[in-house]
Amino acid sequence: MSYNREDYVRIKAEFAQKSIAARRRADARQMELYGRIPEVIEIDRLLSKTGREIMAVIAKGGDVEKGIADIREKNEILQKERGELLRKNGYPENYSDVQYECKKCDDTGYVDTKMCDCMRRALVLAGYESSGIGGLIQCQSFDNFSLEYYQSDGGNYEGVRCAYQNLRAFAEGFNRDTYRNHLLIGGTGLGKTHLSTSVAKTVIDRGFDVMYVTATAMLADFETKRFGNGLSPKHNLDRYFDAELLIVDDLGTETVNQFTLSCVYEVINERINRRKSTIINTNLSKKDLEARYNERIASRLFGEYIPFQFLGRDIRQQKILKRM
Ligand SMILES: Nc1ncnc2c1ncn2[C@@H]1O[C@H](COP(=O)(O)OP(=O)(O)OP(=O)(O)O)[C@@H](O)[C@H]1O
Ligand SMILES: [Mg+2]
Ligand SMILES: [Zn+2]
Repeated sequence: MSYNREDYVRIKAEFAQKSIAARRRADARQMELYGRIPEVIEIDRLLSKTGREIMAVIAKGGDVEKGIADIREKNEILQKERGELLRKNGYPENYSDVQYECKKCDDTGYVDTKMCDCMRRALVLAGYESSGIGGLIQCQSFDNFSLEYYQSDGGNYEGVRCAYQNLRAFAEGFNRDTYRNHLLIGGTGLGKTHLSTSVAKTVIDRGFDVMYVTATAMLADFETKRFGNGLSPKHNLDRYFDAELLIVDDLGTETVNQFTLSCVYEVINERINRRKSTIINTNLSKKDLEARYNERIASRLFGEYIPFQFLGRDIRQQKILKRM
């Protein structure tokens, strides 16, 4: 696992705060009880001595077991008395107990040295958010990706089935050492974005940092960094090179000039060198890609990426027709 670093730092701090806040709330409730039921103060004072009393019994030696059992018994009586007092005054017995959201880790995010499930969940949700996919992550998944749409005229059912199986296996087996690049080529509305966001969700669920971006947005970030006169890019540029999985959607819709070409080259080349997986989606054919991008980019796209061709009738339209 290697969660997005910023998310991790932020969530770890949020958990520490959450744990402190839970204790503060309990302290406030305790003070409230002291105000309303002063007898509780003395009981709590006696209860708080328990630890020291046990230490004293151990230090003294002799029949330690009996000594501890006596303290326990006294303790239980005090607890019971306290509970009854609270109940009589209309409070639940555990009113001033610390109420953590997660009982497994007391909101620290860790059980011993292992990350607690609650923190893992928070990181996954943050991962969805910081991936840049937004709402699509909730509605596009492998499970609602249907191959039936490619059975119509001109659809390449076999090719898309192969893409689906490959990408699903890639996502479900994603680990630290995974390195594979994919190029999804095809016309509009054929499921390239849907399939790649399904990969993103699965890889985020497995605890890895995923970044989804359109080519236009990616280049806007690089441009802001270079010409933005103090403005900062929307995304941290390091993530284009560090994210475990980068998805560049709609390659070919960005403007092409020397600067954008060098950025596209830098991202593609650097990620190959770092053995970081990338998925690129495009409406352009192999020929168009060759014509649009220079040889250095094209050679990497065709040499280092597994291509999958999407053919068929626009699924956005097929869905509308089905509803009519
Ligand atoms: N195989 C599929 N099964 C179910 N729904 C699909 C499938 N493929 C695409 N869709 C749906 O059709 C719509 C268009 O798909 P998507 O956005 O993935 O197309 P695209 O290939 O990325 O198109 P574009 O090139 O225009 O970006 C989306 O709402 C998507 O959820
Ligand atoms: Mg798309
Ligand atoms: Zn927990």
